[in-house]
Amino acid sequence: MKVDVLLGLQWGDEGKGKLVDFITPNYDIIARFQGGANAGHTLIFDGKKYVLHLIPSGIFRNNCINIIGAGVVIDPIALVEEIKTLEEIGVDVRSKLKISKRAHLILPTHRILDKVSELDKGDAKIGSTLKGIGPTYMDKTGRNGIRIGDINNDLNSKYQSLKDKHYLIMDRHQKTLQELDYYSTVTEEETKWFESIEFLKSFDFIDSEYYINKALKERKTVLAEGAQGSLLDVDYGTYPFVTSSSTTVSGVCSGLGVPPHAIGNVTGIFKAYTTRVGSGPFPTELDNEIGKKIRKIGSEFGATTGRPRRCGWLDLPALKYSCMINGVTELNIMKLDILSEFETIKVCVGYNVDGEFYKDTIPFDVSVPIEPIYVELKGWNKDISDCKVFEELPKEAKDYIAFIQLETNCPITRVSVGPDRLQTIMR
Ligand code: GDP
Ligand code: IMO
Ligand code: MG
Repeated sequence: MKVDVLLGLQWGDEGKGKLVDFITPNYDIIARFQGGANAGHTLIFDGKKYVLHLIPSGIFRNNCINIIGAGVVIDPIALVEEIKTLEEIGVDVRSKLKISKRAHLILPTHRILDKVSELDKGDAKIGSTLKGIGPTYMDKTGRNGIRIGDINNDLNSKYQSLKDKHYLIMDRHQKTLQELDYYSTVTEEETKWFESIEFLKSFDFIDSEYYINKALKERKTVLAEGAQGSLLDVDYGTYPFVTSSSTTVSGVCSGLGVPPHAIGNVTGIFKAYTTRVGSGPFPTELDNEIGKKIRKIGSEFGATTGRPRRCGWLDLPALKYSCMINGVTELNIMKLDILSEFETIKVCVGYNVDGEFYKDTIPFDVSVPIEPIYVELKGWNKDISDCKVFEELPKEAKDYIAFIQLETNCPITRVSVGPDRLQTIMR
């Protein structure tokens, strides 16, 4: 078997959590491969809303193993809080969750460094979620990090104990903070960190690369759940306004330890419009009444930070770029219902960059002045949130979908018309 992938094609919050939860019954294993608690994946079913940050979105379904893969960075405090919240409502997390020994740990000082780095950048700040993601990946690639597998090896380690390692890193962090004129005492958080580590010791730490490759050999089905979106990828996103991990399909290979030929279907998901939270270029942003209307109808506020999301029309050059990078085999369109109250809907089909036209590609730097070239399509102007099958959708909504399919040359196989698990149309 191969690893199917579901990932976001825009700047995150496309609705990945909703869809992963929806398709989990088709899978034996759901695995997160990158990112951390900067993600906020919302699931709604049976009239209740749940937001997951580190735990894969298959956790509510039975008979499915959820893996936090090697490429993820884990804040033990956040993970324990998430586990406890789920256990309180009766989810058997312990039997369904496995954690890669290779996943790196976020320390309280990583979060402080994140905050101070943003303060130091001033107006040029990234708009980070301040979860410590960037500094932790920096320590990982700088070969200074601690992996979660280290916490159980502690007694046997011929090198350093976890506490020694922790304080060594923390001292380095404090030096950096002092250089930035920022000294911090984190005693309370440190205590909480070590308590969370103790709590996690009884969880199942696995060699996830062996676990997943073996599962594939045994013909088990595996879905890799992306976090963030392709335009936030550290290499291919709108650098430097990106996150610090590989959010694209290549992140699945490195983050789960599977070879490229083990990648199967790649489902790319996108909103029927575009949103972005945090700083950075956004060519189709609508800093006007239309943008406000989309935000209001779409409840576009961050699931992790509560910040208002910036809103704009669908950007096809950017979508095509993401399809290419990821080798997307099928598309799923989300939040189509949010466009139901618009007489006409614009779609960006090209960029004019100082007289140079882009249609199928995007320029190296999208922070330069870009005039989006729009086509205007007729809206459907009626509620579609109860539509159960594709045929029930109004003609104009079907035309909108057909237009995107034609432009991207990729089939749209699911249409989401509401936040609930059931408000999903299969084609
Ligand atoms: P994720 O990070 O990609 O999982 O997305 P988020 O959960 O951060 O943001 C998506 C938001 O849109 C959540 O509040 C979802 O409940 C909601 N949502 C998802 N799909 C739909 C849809 O088709 N229609 C509407 N109205 N809301 C949706
Ligand atoms: P999900 O998985 C939307 C954005 C932040 C910031 C930039 C860097 O829910 O789609 P970081 O905290 O990683 O240092 O922030 O990336 N960002 C997200 N935006 N959805 C997310 O995750 C995001 N995770 C990070 O707003 O601009
Ligand atoms: Mg989100």
